[in-house]
Amino acid sequence: MSKTPHLPKLPKGFIWGASTAAAQIEGAAADEGRGASIWDAFAATPGKIKDGSTPAAACDHYHLYKEDVALMKRLGLDAYRFSVSWSRVMPDGAGAVNDKGLDFYDRLIDELLASGVEPWLCLYHWDLPQALHEKGGWTNRDAAHWFTDYAALIAERFGDRVARWATFNEPGVFTTAGYAVGYHAPGIADLGAYLAAAHNVNRSHGGAVRALRAAGVKGQIGVVCNQQPARPATPSDEDKAAATLYELFWNRTFADPMILGSYPEGLTPFFGGLIKDGDLEAIREPLDFLGVNHYSPTYVKSDPSAPGGLAQAKPPEGAPVTMMGWEIAPKAFAQTLIQEYARYKLPIVVTENGVADRAEVGPDGEVDDRLRIDYLSKYVGAVASAIDAGARIDGYFVWSLIDNFEWAEGYEPRFGVVHVDFTTQKRTPKRSFDWMRKEIRRQ
Ligand code: FCB
Repeated sequence: MSKTPHLPKLPKGFIWGASTAAAQIEGAAADEGRGASIWDAFAATPGKIKDGSTPAAACDHYHLYKEDVALMKRLGLDAYRFSVSWSRVMPDGAGAVNDKGLDFYDRLIDELLASGVEPWLCLYHWDLPQALHEKGGWTNRDAAHWFTDYAALIAERFGDRVARWATFNEPGVFTTAGYAVGYHAPGIADLGAYLAAAHNVNRSHGGAVRALRAAGVKGQIGVVCNQQPARPATPSDEDKAAATLYELFWNRTFADPMILGSYPEGLTPFFGGLIKDGDLEAIREPLDFLGVNHYSPTYVKSDPSAPGGLAQAKPPEGAPVTMMGWEIAPKAFAQTLIQEYARYKLPIVVTENGVADRAEVGPDGEVDDRLRIDYLSKYVGAVASAIDAGARIDGYFVWSLIDNFEWAEGYEPRFGVVHVDFTTQKRTPKRSFDWMRKEIRRQ
């Protein structure tokens, strides 16, 4: 471990943070009036989650949030990005409000502020209220009204205390995995459903930004996108064309209309028919920052039987990969940051980056996750080199603070800098936690 070089010096005021998501950590799925989300329903369907688990208990953060905030403080974090569970505060997604649910976020935000950690709030990290799914969910144009009303509620209640707002987390991931491929909730595999969902998510974003501004929130407003370069699985013309189209879908479907005001030309054949008068104007609202989540490049092959003819492929033989099968390629991260800054000209915050392993608590009580230390040091190094190349990057948030429910993968991949024993809920900071704490302090 001593061989890991120190992190380069990052600019003054650089923000160190950690990210989580409600469905992955809160648990308390049926407590105090919370309604079901699509992830509760999806996980209850046999075969959908690899280890047969559910997010019902997760890390019980709903009850243990004080302990978790104390860990953030100990780590020396400037900020913490969490998401609100829509169905906890509006059990049916629209209409009745659950005050007890709102009270939980009040307590969490106040605990963060009292600990000197800025609250960064994400309105949507994938857990649509099941009741709205039953009305068509994101494929229904009314979704923009539902989401705007929800955003207004949250803004009215927390607008005085939240430092930064994000409308959506990774719209590309939850629409692709949830509606085109069906590997995530709500489990739909239909290109048309994906296109409608994506366009309505864009419209919902615009509505939510206007609701936040109308409520006079004090914090900055942005969106969090997962931006990854797409590489052809083979040098064939078909795979090259597939990678080019995939990259458009993956990186541009949301950020382009939200920030630049239109879908790129290459996507017009797909989205053109869905755009109604006024939609593009309603999607684009001035933003203060772009959150970029990034873990690895992606590989793509042409496959006529896949949605849009595009299928994900494995990284090349021999490439270093994590247990998720994701390639470790920090240079691709630096290039992505430089490219996204050049295209959108908004200050960037790295709102997620990290690595999964299976490290457990050893007999000495330590969790030896040197793999994570190695990965994080290379990826934070990439942030520094992108800054050197002229990209404005204001912060870095590790995914994740604590091990948690990794969606369809269940609890096996562990992404935290803090280990969680899911039987006892005991938290054990890993070696990477100590490493990060020292490196943040050294800055
Ligand atoms: C991202 C998600 C996050 C987590 C990490 C590993 O795509 O935003 O919730 O699952 O991947």
